Amino acid sequence: MTATSEPLEQEQDPKNDAPTTPVIRFLRGPHLLGQIAVNPEQTIVEHAEACGVELPTSCTSGTCGTCTVSVVFGEVALPDELPPGLEAWLAEEGGRLGCMSKPHADVDIDIMPPI
Ligand code: FES
Repeated sequence: MTATSEPLEQEQDPKNDAPTTPVIRFLRGPHLLGQIAVNPEQTIVEHAEACGVELPTSCTSGTCGTCTVSVVFGEVALPDELPPGLEAWLAEEGGRLGCMSKPHADVDIDIMPPI
């Protein structure tokens, strides 16, 4: 048996080819705090509240950075112009503002501060 860094392929059930609903998971390090189906109309903070995970917020407008989280799996798109609450280096390392960012696919969010 050899070790691999490739993700394991999930076996497909040939009788069930229905599309799966994307899920957002909230982690604190290795601990799963909650998860819920992705609603592309909702922000990360709104998803967290819906599954009982508390995220700190303040301005809720992208200015303060209080709601910064780390995307540790998947993608959450950045706006064309970074809001004042998110520095470019942090965005490059997966930092996103929970009050403004909306996931559209499977994503894992670490709510430990990225800095
Ligand atoms: S709460 Fe201030 S940037 Fe999100």
